[in-house]
Parts: sequence; structure tokens; C-alpha cells
Amino acid sequence: MTTDAPALLSAADVFLDGHTAYHFTDAPVSDEQLAAIYELARMAPTAMNASPLRVTYLRDEAKERLLPHLSEGNREKSASAPVVAILAYDVNFHEELPTLAPHNPNARENFAGKDEAARERFARFSASLQAGYFILASRTVGLDAGPMGGFDAARVDEEFLAGTSQRSILVVNLGIAAEDGTRPRAPRLDVATATRVLTE
Ligand SMILES: Cc1cc2nc3c(=O)[nH]c(=O)nc-3n(C[C@H](O)[C@H](O)[C@H](O)COP(=O)(O)O)c2cc1C
Repeated sequence: MTTDAPALLSAADVFLDGHTAYHFTDAPVSDEQLAAIYELARMAPTAMNASPLRVTYLRDEAKERLLPHLSEGNREKSASAPVVAILAYDVNFHEELPTLAPHNPNARENFAGKDEAARERFARFSASLQAGYFILASRTVGLDAGPMGGFDAARVDEEFLAGTSQRSILVVNLGIAAEDGTRPRAPRLDVATATRVLTE
């Protein structure tokens, strides 16, 4: 963690009390908090430690440029958030493998030999896991997060990720939820419906 890192919440707070936020107060979000999110999220596992998630934070006018690319029902939510994150995967994630996977010296070359669609599938899967880690890390540093899949990814990529090898997968509003900014918890599946234990 950085020296300015905020105090961290417990896993129980994060899982049991944390709620998706749809409307935010004006309380500012610091760059230290944004850095602390990634410092936590990066430690959770990805395939081959490839760490394909890339994050672009938007404030102020940059955030305004995002709003037309969100589905209509999502615009007001991002408009009220002090910071919005674009989560993307890097299709050229393999360039970092010599650093991230020194135990696998041929990894970069192997991925370079694959077609882009195969690299995309690999990157999207681990980046999606990392998106989940990112949401929970945001809560851990004391923020509320509002993940949103309702946006035009092609237009977001053109507006913010042109000239990069990144492709967006999720938009996450970040800030402190307003008093009326969350919804009551909807039911979850019970353990017996969602899981089973096999012994043979
Ligand atoms: C991948 C993903 C996509 C989502 N997309 C949207 C969205 O486009 N708009 C929206 O209002 N909420 C969206 N949500 C919010 C979910 O509906 C919300 O997290 C879920 O109902 C749980 O709510 P809770 O945290 O209050 O229990 C999305 C959440 C996730 C994880």
C-alpha cells in the first residue's frame, strides 16, 4: 500500500454491508484512493498472472465526454459520481509476461504466435475476474462502486482507448453513495441452489 493509503474495511463489511451505488454525494475521491484500489485488486489471481485489466479514470470534462456513450438510464448515475472508471482488457497483455511470469520464459512468444481472437478470450476472462476484484477493492478503501454494463463499448473505445490495445468491458462509478443512492438488497440464491458437493 502507499503511505497515504486509506484505512481498509474488513471482508465482512465489503461483502455483507457493501451495496451497489446509483447516486453519489459531492464528497471528493482522491488520487490516493484510486491508487489504493489497484494496489489491492492487483494481488488477486489471474491466469498466468497475466494481469490484463487496465483502468482509465475519468473526472470533470473527461467524464462528461463519457455520458453520451452510456445507455440513457445510466447517464444520471455517472453524472453524479465524482469519478468514473473504464475497465478494459489489454489484448497485448502478453508483452508484460516476461516481468509477470518469469517462471514461464516462453509465455510471451507463445501468445505472440496466437491470433488476436485467442488472446482476446484469454484477456477478457482474467480482466473480468479483475473487474470483480476492483469492485470489492473499491469498497475496501471506503468508496461505493456502481458497476455498469449498459454502455456502447465500441464508442467508448473510440473516444477513450483509440490508439491503444485496450477494449472496454465495464464502467464503474466511484464515490460515496448518497442517502437515497442504493437499493434494498435483492434476494440471492441459497447455497443448495447454487452449489453442490460431489464425492464420487
Ligand atoms: C457486470 C455488471 C453490470 C451491471 N450493469 C448495470 C447497469 O448497466 N446499470 C445499472 O443500473 N446497474 C448495473 N449493475 C448493478 C447490478 O444490478 C447490482 O450490482 C446488483 O443488482 C447487486 O446490487 P446490490 O449490490 O445492491 O446488492 C451491474 C452490475 C454488474 C456487476
